[in-house]
Amino acid sequence: MSPTDILVLGSINTDLVVKGSRLPAAGETVVGGEFYQAPGGKGANQAVAAVRASRQIATRLIAAVGEDAFGRAALQYLEQVGVHCDGVLSLPKVPSGVALIMVDQQGQNCISVASGANSRLSADHLDRLPEQVFANARVLLACLEAPLDIVHRGLQRAKAAGLITILDPAPADPRVATSEWLQYVDILTPNESEASLLVGESVRDVPTAAEAGRRLNTLGCSQTVVTLGAGGCVLVSDRVTHVPALSVRPVDATAAGDAFNGALAVALAEGRDLETACRWASVAAGLSVTRPGAQPSLPTRQAIDAAIQDLDTNWVGEEV
Ligand code: RIB
Repeated sequence: MSPTDILVLGSINTDLVVKGSRLPAAGETVVGGEFYQAPGGKGANQAVAAVRASRQIATRLIAAVGEDAFGRAALQYLEQVGVHCDGVLSLPKVPSGVALIMVDQQGQNCISVASGANSRLSADHLDRLPEQVFANARVLLACLEAPLDIVHRGLQRAKAAGLITILDPAPADPRVATSEWLQYVDILTPNESEASLLVGESVRDVPTAAEAGRRLNTLGCSQTVVTLGAGGCVLVSDRVTHVPALSVRPVDATAAGDAFNGALAVALAEGRDLETACRWASVAAGLSVTRPGAQPSLPTRQAIDAAIQDLDTNWVGEEV
């Protein structure tokens, strides 16, 4: 097994997307949309985001696909991009994950996922991975599109091996808002709706994000970064910092959070401090919103660095 710098634990999906004039209401049909298919799944997106955002970082994905055409195509794409896939299970008699996505003219989306093989992952799979997989890595990045038991075991193993652990609690599950979970999390990265669900209060702006971050930190995670889409992100550690978002014309917000988390993992694996890492990740997320699709939208390192150079020197984030 080749060395790993970043371990990503999550999901692999095929995204079937309709971009229409607006999102339909329940029971409504909206015609006139455009269809595209793209490789997706939060885990796979985050792994691709990390590979694109890095120069020499090795990224290994722990996930599962079914033995079907979607699964084979997804694996082929990931390998071609440079993600190490020897931790990806290919499971018989179960379909690969599929996400049905609707995107409106403002780039907002709604997503329904049939998890398929992703839901068959279990902590046993992780237990069978050699110690070396964790021993050599610097960062574990996990999301909640994999079953809770494997994510919990992954966080425990990563902490025991001295890795920096990032948990993107997406899709949100209130069961993770406990000290049993959060003691293994160095950096929790909810978006506003996930943070709202985790703390049971509406998170909609910088002050409410700061308050949610403080509450989540008291439960055990070291630091919380609440992402606010076009509102940037709020980093809550021993102080609170607001990092603005890149100002862009949104095309498709799918995988913006994954772009953020993948770039964040790279920056931390490279030894940058969390505030600098958040600025860099915020730019990666902003760039991803300007292009359609999940993995096709994830920016390269060159694009992220160029966008940062173009920014006003005042664009640094401020303590609040
Ligand atoms: O975060 C975006 C992803 O969520 C999509 O690619 C889709 O597959 C769902 O998992």
